[in-house]
Amino acid sequence: MSLSAPVPVRHYLQFTDLTADEYTHLFARATEIKRKFKAYEKYRPLVDRTLAMIFEKASTRTRVSFEAGMYQLGGSVVHLTTGDSQLGRSEPIEDSARVISRMTDLVMIRTYGQDKIVRFASHSRVPVINGLTNEFHPCQILADIFTYIERRDSIQGKTVAWVGDGNNMANTWLQAAELLGFTVHLSTPSGYEVDQAVAGLRSADSYKIFKDPEDACRGADLVTTDVWTSMGYEAENEARKKAFADWCVDEAMMQVAKPDALFMHCLPAHRGEEVSAEVIDGPQSVVWDEAENRMHVQKALMEFLLLGRVEA
Ligand code: CP
Ligand code: NVA
Repeated sequence: MSLSAPVPVRHYLQFTDLTADEYTHLFARATEIKRKFKAYEKYRPLVDRTLAMIFEKASTRTRVSFEAGMYQLGGSVVHLTTGDSQLGRSEPIEDSARVISRMTDLVMIRTYGQDKIVRFASHSRVPVINGLTNEFHPCQILADIFTYIERRDSIQGKTVAWVGDGNNMANTWLQAAELLGFTVHLSTPSGYEVDQAVAGLRSADSYKIFKDPEDACRGADLVTTDVWTSMGYEAENEARKKAFADWCVDEAMMQVAKPDALFMHCLPAHRGEEVSAEVIDGPQSVVWDEAENRMHVQKALMEFLLLGRVEA
């Protein structure tokens, strides 16, 4: 039997865990993997590999995209939640990591603090993927940038308007801008700004702050937003509804963006809160492609973490 050299363990805990060159590779692989899927062409390089998915928060897209994606690649999936595992009964995260990573080949975690996923990864024998933390959502931005490239072209040199909370999505857009060379126009209500240290940025060169959300959208190539209240912050819901009332992406905001600007939202969305129905259901919105592309880019990511650079 000939065994190929083992692929060194790489984790995907934040957007900066891959290089710009590796993103170019991943986007090319996602294009090819998506083409195969659309053509019903079998592609099963992960036969006998198992993905453990750990959810400490709710999910629709992340669960379905990872689970369907892993099965399509020939592998299988174990699904764990806080409520139905010892994770919810105070087993140390380090012990869970040691055990789970002895029986599976790859772990995807959705949890609260980034520190938790970092601790898990540091005791894991296998790659760990961030499926959303309070601080970051790298798989979503991977899908969003792939969707932009698919619809337009390179995102390099472009302007992305972020309207809303300075949350996990905003932080990850900022990391991507710094790494891939585009600019983010940020508009957040007072008290909900991005914290540059939490976002882990090297400088403030790749973003500009705007008080008025419409000014942030002016001339943008892409306008994007997210829920006013992220998972884990539900106790702040009423205060946030008041603070965010003017941060609804509506037709007036899309009017001042470039005429061919796209609208994105990671979903789930609340029509009439962070986005109007006219915009999310309108001609500039690419939210359904964006959701579907989660699966294609994550298949490319799992291939990369387990097999290294697969050339077409
Ligand atoms: N966008 C996203 O991550 O969706 P889910 O919360 O449904 O997984
Ligand atoms: N910012 C949102 C994203 C949901 C996919 C949250 O963390 O709840």
